[in-house]
Amino acid sequence: MSLLHFTHPAPMGQWIQALKHAGKRIGFVPTMGALHEGHISLVHNALEHCDVLIVSIFVNPTQFNDPKDLLKYPKTLPSDVEMLLKCPCNAVFVPTISDIYPEGQFKDEWELGPSKDVLEGEFRPGHFDGVLTVVSRLFELVKPDYAFFGEKDFQQQYLIKKMAEKEGNQVKVLSFPTIRESNGLAMSSRNRRLQSDDMIVAAGIYKILLQMKVQRKNLGPQELEEWGNKNLNRPGIIDIEYLKVVKTSDLSSVEIWEENEGHIALLAAWVGGVRLLDNIFLD
Ligand code: PAJ
Repeated sequence: MSLLHFTHPAPMGQWIQALKHAGKRIGFVPTMGALHEGHISLVHNALEHCDVLIVSIFVNPTQFNDPKDLLKYPKTLPSDVEMLLKCPCNAVFVPTISDIYPEGQFKDEWELGPSKDVLEGEFRPGHFDGVLTVVSRLFELVKPDYAFFGEKDFQQQYLIKKMAEKEGNQVKVLSFPTIRESNGLAMSSRNRRLQSDDMIVAAGIYKILLQMKVQRKNLGPQELEEWGNKNLNRPGIIDIEYLKVVKTSDLSSVEIWEENEGHIALLAAWVGGVRLLDNIFLD
């Protein structure tokens, strides 16, 4: 498939407008590049919802609360383009910082209630304001009918859905399951920074999450959280930042299992100096 490459919003906007006039449904997958099969799965899942698909690659500075993390973020544009050439993607949009932030870098403060301040919000203050600001700006430039996100970043896709709803945005936000390595490790651009020994250690995270799903039948939510923390935390090897059991409907903590509620265990943990996110649906 041929892949258009846009670096400026204006020509992309004209191209998209013409497609919209022709009745095409526009799909959009925002990324920060260093693409892997997790990103590519979003492209394939998008196919049944849209006629034209655009992937953006933009390492958004305003969502990094640690400047060192931003500096270390992998940048692999040539191989990203190679990957996109092999899949059903019509265009890649690689904007500059000034296209996204023409008036200088800033982030809006999004009022989305307590679900923004827990979990990642608690440990990475300001992170979600940066994510929501860039996604909202990208939506403004791309004007997609559909946008696709991964459940690996469960809280992120939750908040983006909430933001789109609040903004009265036309874009329908859909999310898709986490893609894993054969050993269970959730794929992530940050995995590239793991040494091979750490990769093996990191794969242990999913094994415990799977066991949590089994233990869910015997334990209450708080007990399950404690069980997970006790079994996963290995100081200096796997350092848990948080491992929480929350409701999928509002990300609040769970007192008792509720029949008509979804429950998910979400975690952030450090392995070999790399911060990893993962989660598992418990129902
Ligand atoms: P990035 O980490 O590049 O991820 C882009 C999209 O790919 C996100 O929706 C993420 O949830 C999804 N993704 C990542 N790993 C995945 C996996 N293993 N399986 C399935 N989907 C996966 O998330 C961001 O970028 C940024 O915060 C962004 C939304 C682009 C805003 O800057």
